[in-house]
Amino acid sequence: MKKPYKKMPVIYFDDYCLRTIKKSDANDMFEYGKDKEVTQFLNWGPFILPIEAKKSITRIYLPRHKEGLPIGYSIIDVKKSKMIGTIDFHSKIKNINGVEIGFVLHKDYWNKGIMTNALKRMVDIGFDYLGYEKMTMKHLKQNIASQKVIEKIGFKLIKTNIYILEKRDQVIKDELLIYELLREDYHGNQ
Ligand SMILES: CC(C)(COP(=O)(O)OP(=O)(O)OC[C@H]1O[C@@H](n2cnc3c(N)ncnc32)[C@H](O)[C@@H]1OP(=O)(O)O)[C@@H](O)C(=O)NCCC(=O)NCCS
Repeated sequence: MKKPYKKMPVIYFDDYCLRTIKKSDANDMFEYGKDKEVTQFLNWGPFILPIEAKKSITRIYLPRHKEGLPIGYSIIDVKKSKMIGTIDFHSKIKNINGVEIGFVLHKDYWNKGIMTNALKRMVDIGFDYLGYEKMTMKHLKQNIASQKVIEKIGFKLIKTNIYILEKRDQVIKDELLIYELLREDYHGNQ
């Protein structure tokens, strides 16, 4: 495996781009991170104070290279120079050269195909640039939008677990669907 990169290549698609997350993204991250609907199925948020977005960038995203992972991508609306979400390799898979991917997008940008495009680019980067053998993704069963994006890119369902997500004002008990995409299957479908 190649060494994890602190800075990743910038990737453009349509009016959007993926570039390494920066401290200066904190205000834009707060804007979608304080939204209860955006964060309802995530294990963080909704943010109450802007400092929470800042801490998430400096304490979670930026130190990823210390765990042998590349720093995550911000998704940018290029015309507005606005950060509208993230997509990142957030955890290593044990005993194999692989990673788990996570993503989130500002609600104003949902259902325009942005995350499907972003995930396609992440998978290309993961297999072709970083040399991973396997990528995994997870979502709660009721998170249909996530499921659609994950399936459109060709991830295969491998397992389900019962998962309890504790949010500030509610506890969600749901099935957690776990998917994987293997290098040989991905390239086999090209
Ligand atoms: C999940 C998320 C990233 C998807 O981003 P997006 O850019 O809107 O996704 P896309 O537009 O590429 O694709 C969404 C698909 O879901 C479909 N969809 C969305 N909501 C749906 C619903 N309630 N029922 C059925 N289909 C739905 C859309 O029609 C689209 O499918 P299509 O291309 O076949 O029409 C976005 O909804 C989000 O940020 N959610 C909150 C954070 C989150 O849950 N992250 C993932 C944690 S596992």
